Amino acid sequence: MARTVWNSTVGKKTVMAVSGLIMLLYLVAHMLGNLKIYFGAPEFNEYAHWLRTMGEPLLHYEWALWVVRVVLVVAVVAHAVSAYQLSRRDIKARPSKYVHKKARASYATRTMRWGGIILALFIVWHILDLTTGHVHSGGFEEGKPYQNVVDTFSTWYGNVIYIVAVLAVGLHIRHGFWSAAQTLGVGSRTRDRALKALANVLALLLTIGFLAVPVGVMTGVVS
Ligand code: HEM
Repeated sequence: MARTVWNSTVGKKTVMAVSGLIMLLYLVAHMLGNLKIYFGAPEFNEYAHWLRTMGEPLLHYEWALWVVRVVLVVAVVAHAVSAYQLSRRDIKARPSKYVHKKARASYATRTMRWGGIILALFIVWHILDLTTGHVHSGGFEEGKPYQNVVDTFSTWYGNVIYIVAVLAVGLHIRHGFWSAAQTLGVGSRTRDRALKALANVLALLLTIGFLAVPVGVMTGVVS
């Protein structure tokens, strides 16, 4: 049964929609958490510490954080694998008259494919930058994310990488949220316009919220 669902196009689209919504929830929480940087280093660093002690004393140090990490990794892998398989199907299903002509995927499809690849690369960079510190520009200090974030946005390339990634997030969510609603059958003619508007507002709020951090450092409001 699970196999039949997974092998169907609708099954794969459902996996994309559900895993996408899980990541979206994470992004909303992450964006809101990031804005605490405007309340100063002690509050921001305290928040990062809380992420590790969540659920204590029932849970051990970092257990809840690891549950979130595992759920996210499963969501990312499921999303990427089904996206890849759906795009293969799409190419195979093209009528042969396209073989000699240049068959171009639609603007939205191309944006989603390239956006997805950019985001996957960004997430690897971002974790090596601000979670493990391997590619961090300054002297990375564990437990001091405020200073680490300020260091990152004090370099031109740090700003470029994050701004490009955040714009890609915005575009991806704008189209992805809408597609997910279609797949999960929430849409109807009357609701379509409202869902499109909701997708736009959500994408815009996330983009502005994430951009507020590098902009804060660049303008010296956060230092
Ligand atoms: C300007 C935008 C962003 C800032 C300032 C930022 C900041 C941070 C910081 C400081 C951490 C480390 C947290 C800690 O170790 O306590 C982190 C982790 C992370 N961020 Fe971001 N982030 C931004 C955008 C994004 C975006 C757009 C994504 C996803 C597309 C993302 C996904 C993640 C992930 C997956 C982690 C790893 C969490 C973990 O397992 O510890 N972030 N971010």
